[in-house]
Amino acid sequence: MNLEITPPRALKGITRVPGDKSISHRAAMLGALAEGETQIENFLMGADCLATVKCLESMGVTFTGPDENGRLTVHGRGPAGLKEPENVLDAGNSGTTMRLMLGILAGLPFFTVITGDASLRRRPMKRVTAPLSQMGARIWGRQEANLAPLAVQGGELQGGNFSLPVASAQVKSALLLAGLSARGETRVTEPAPSRDHTERMLQYFGAEISQKERTVWIKGGQVLGGRRVVVPGDISSAAFLLVAAAVVPGSDVTVREVGVNPTRDGILEVLRAMGADLEISNYHQLGGEPVADVRVRYSRLRGVTIGGELIPRLIDEIPILAVAGALGEGELVVRDAGELKVKESNRIATVVEELRKFGAEVEALDDGLRVQGGRPLTGALCASHGDHRIAMAMAVAGLAARGRTVIQDAGCVDVSFPGFAGILSSLRVD
Ligand code: S3P
Repeated sequence: MNLEITPPRALKGITRVPGDKSISHRAAMLGALAEGETQIENFLMGADCLATVKCLESMGVTFTGPDENGRLTVHGRGPAGLKEPENVLDAGNSGTTMRLMLGILAGLPFFTVITGDASLRRRPMKRVTAPLSQMGARIWGRQEANLAPLAVQGGELQGGNFSLPVASAQVKSALLLAGLSARGETRVTEPAPSRDHTERMLQYFGAEISQKERTVWIKGGQVLGGRRVVVPGDISSAAFLLVAAAVVPGSDVTVREVGVNPTRDGILEVLRAMGADLEISNYHQLGGEPVADVRVRYSRLRGVTIGGELIPRLIDEIPILAVAGALGEGELVVRDAGELKVKESNRIATVVEELRKFGAEVEALDDGLRVQGGRPLTGALCASHGDHRIAMAMAVAGLAARGRTVIQDAGCVDVSFPGFAGILSSLRVD
């Protein structure tokens, strides 16, 4: 499927975005591990989260819905309610599904094989399989259990102390989920704070989990109870609309009930520093997560330099930030973001390749990007590289470029933001 974009006169309106991808995955998984019903409102019905649901269903977990109010129900029967699947589990394009499921599978007394699409089969899994093996799971795969397909023989695990070489919420979460079923305590220390949705949700589901500075720890053998979860709008999806409003002259867009968890809101901080006209209001809590309405009006942006601990707080927003940088004045520099190379695509390479097609001046760095703003962009024929965030970032570039832009193979947008094209159309003023 191709996505065709032409520049509008402006973008205006009030909208919502689909539920947060990270939180939706966790709600489905914790709901499956819990005893009793979990009702999830605003669950992201995108391909990634549906892959998580399918994996859990293959292990005997029952899901019903979504009902007419968009409520998905998980009928949890505790970890013992999960059974050995008869077939290979398919995580599709989803790193979160594979890494978090590995954490769960490690502690379950059966054999499983899990795989994914071509992109996921290239992504590094040793970062989870190595510590899970240390806890007692047996895991096999190419390159010493680095590449899927992975085969897991789970069983009794022993907690431990883990110091992560990269700030990764997926690795931290896999170890906490394994720790939930392990003997003793599992402690995870991160080099920089990554998103803490797993910690918040474990607590919300009744588990005791502690944190001091960069270390989080959990005692094994705790029982979770089903809950009602309301999933906030995904800030990583909202980011495309917020940047679009910031770069298309005359725009004024509000996105309602966006998750503004401080481990995820780096994009707001950086857009402000770039001179965006940003208004955040109506702060409140939704099931243990902070949300707010975010309004952006067009203004002239200027480049900034970012790196360090800010990076995990906006890691998924770097492709769209690069677009904002190309459309602003001055230079945008991103450092300390080598992790971009092992996302759904090598996002350093794909951002550079695609933005250059618009006439932007972009340079790949070993651990990030340099974007020189101030050049007018011209519509381009872009490839998505099968990466949902590359497809959407380039679509936004197309909104602010002269002429027509076509994003080829844009079906991947449904991985995280089903309805993206429809929402953009609804905001257009032509
Ligand atoms: C995610 C964590 C991040 C992020 C991904 C979702 C999560 O990955 O890029 O889109 O849900 O935990 P890493 O944990 O690998 O940095």
